[in-house]
Amino acid sequence: MSKPRQQLETIKRDGLAEMAAAADLAALDAVRVKYLGRKGAVRAAFDLLPTLPKEERPAIGALANEVNQVLTAALEERKQALEGAARRSGPKLDLTLPGRAPAIGRQHPLTQVTDQIVRIFQRMGFAVADGPDIETEYYNFDALNTPADHPARDIQDTFYIQKDQGVLLRTHTSPVQVHVMEKQQPPVRVVVPGRCYRRDEIDATHHANFQQVEGLYVDRNVSVANLKGDCEFFFKQLLGPQTRVRFRPHFFPFTEPSFEIDLNSPTLRARGKEWLEIAGCGMVNPRVFEYVGYDAEQWTGYAFGMGIERIAMILYGIDDIRLFYENDLRFLRQF
Ligand code: DAH
Repeated sequence: MSKPRQQLETIKRDGLAEMAAAADLAALDAVRVKYLGRKGAVRAAFDLLPTLPKEERPAIGALANEVNQVLTAALEERKQALEGAARRSGPKLDLTLPGRAPAIGRQHPLTQVTDQIVRIFQRMGFAVADGPDIETEYYNFDALNTPADHPARDIQDTFYIQKDQGVLLRTHTSPVQVHVMEKQQPPVRVVVPGRCYRRDEIDATHHANFQQVEGLYVDRNVSVANLKGDCEFFFKQLLGPQTRVRFRPHFFPFTEPSFEIDLNSPTLRARGKEWLEIAGCGMVNPRVFEYVGYDAEQWTGYAFGMGIERIAMILYGIDDIRLFYENDLRFLRQF
């Protein structure tokens, strides 16, 4: 075999082998440049034709054409195969894998406890009422029979928005009692969860922003027995049948008589605690009925207010109220 013929056969054989071996489109393109490019091996073979003896030129020229065609066709074929593979191996989708679950948030522990409290009262026939966080002195104090010289009305104890207009952040949920009674005639049976604000020094058991649940029940012949029975039922539902409840005489301007409720539950006993003060309550003061236009001869009622954080702390065994407001995920993820 003549030397040029041998060279062309080598180009064909090596070119086909290298195309078949090209693992991806980039590798294949490098092979294309090497063999079929403007400075490639096939071009070089054509360029040599004029230097060959005249009688050899037609046969070698024909062979060079054939090699060119074979390699061009092989290139196209390999290119299509690689493109198909690239398409098939695109973004992988394995339908048998379990889905990637989006990170779902959860309710804040105080929201969960509030829901628990409200659900129990709903079973007892209470509706849920709501009122504004920004109040007037009239609703927060006056209509609740709280006198002008009461310490809670001091600017040291209450966040005033406009002291001269008597606009403030409510210090308790009790003003909602007044809103509800202004809008509706007895019988009334509502609970009111909501935020309250006081200029308290913040420590493990006090926060300037905290939450309460207020309760109000007005009907004919409501008595202290109803108040005691309902509170006891509620706390046993919430904290378990071993829970004990104690009423201590106390004073609130808007109730008469007034009590503080102390709790004793197995979880508290386990932590070596005896009685824990949990709520204020009493029989609605007839003076409050006067403010809202209820006939105190016809209607009697009881009211109570309790701190939600404190209940959550008992339920979960938490000893620092600040944890509820720091939004540390290590804390919140536990609920
Ligand atoms: N509002 C009182 C407080 O924040 C709690 C309270 C006591 C509410 C007696 C009442 C009640 O409805 O009858 O300290």
